[in-house]
Amino acid sequence: MMGRFAWNLRAAFYDQVFRLPLFRRIREEEDASFKELTKGFAVQDARILDVACGTGHYMKILGGGRLYGLDYSAEMLRIAGDKQKASLVLGDARHLPFKTASMDRVVCIGLLEYFGDREAVLREISRVLRKDGLGVLSYSRKNIFNTLRNLLGSRVHACSVEEFAISLNKCLLEWVNGRESLLQGQVLCRKA
Ligand SMILES: C[S@@+](CC[C@H](N)C(=O)[O-])C[C@H]1O[C@@H](n2cnc3c(N)ncnc32)[C@H](O)[C@@H]1O
Repeated sequence: MMGRFAWNLRAAFYDQVFRLPLFRRIREEEDASFKELTKGFAVQDARILDVACGTGHYMKILGGGRLYGLDYSAEMLRIAGDKQKASLVLGDARHLPFKTASMDRVVCIGLLEYFGDREAVLREISRVLRKDGLGVLSYSRKNIFNTLRNLLGSRVHACSVEEFAISLNKCLLEWVNGRESLLQGQVLCRKA
C-alpha cells in the first residue's frame, strides 16, 4: 500500500494528470458511472461521507447534502477544501472516526484496490452506514490494463466483479447495481 508521504507528494499534480487526454477519457467514463449510480444521493440534509476523498473531485460532483470528506493525506485535503464546502477529516479508512450508523450515504472511489484486505475498509464503511443507507464503491478490474498498471509500479489488488460482490456480502452490503469502465468497476450497494 502506498504510504501517506507518497500521497502527499502526488497531491500536487493529482488533478493535472486528469487533464492529459488518455486520463481525461478514463475519468470521464468513471464520472459518468458515478453520476448514474449516485442519482438522488445529494438530497437535502443527507449525511454523505466520501472515504479517501482525495482532492475532492467526487464531492464536487455530488455537490449537495451534508458532505464529509476523509483522507489520510493532509495535502489532498487542503486542495479538496478549496473546491467544495465539506467537513474534512484527516484519518484512516480502516478506523473511520464516525459513529456507527451515522451516515446516509458513503462513497469510496479509487481506494479499495490499494488494500490486500479490502474487507478491513468495507467493514468500516458498513459500520458507519445506517440500515438501508446507500454506498457507491469502486474496485480495480482484473484485466490487461490493470496488469500494465502493476507492471508500471502501481501495486493495485484487482478483483473480478464476483470477488467484489463476495466481499460486499461478507460486510452486510447488498449489491443493487453496478457499472464497469476501462480500469474500474463501481457498485451501488445497500446496507442490510
Ligand atoms: C487514487 S486516490 C482517489 C481519490 C479520490 N477518491 C478520487 O477518486 O479522485 C486515493 C486516495 O486515497 C487516500 N488514501 C490512501 N490510503 C488511505 C487510508 N488508509 N485512509 C484514508 N485515505 C487513504 C490517498 O491519500 C488518496 O487521496
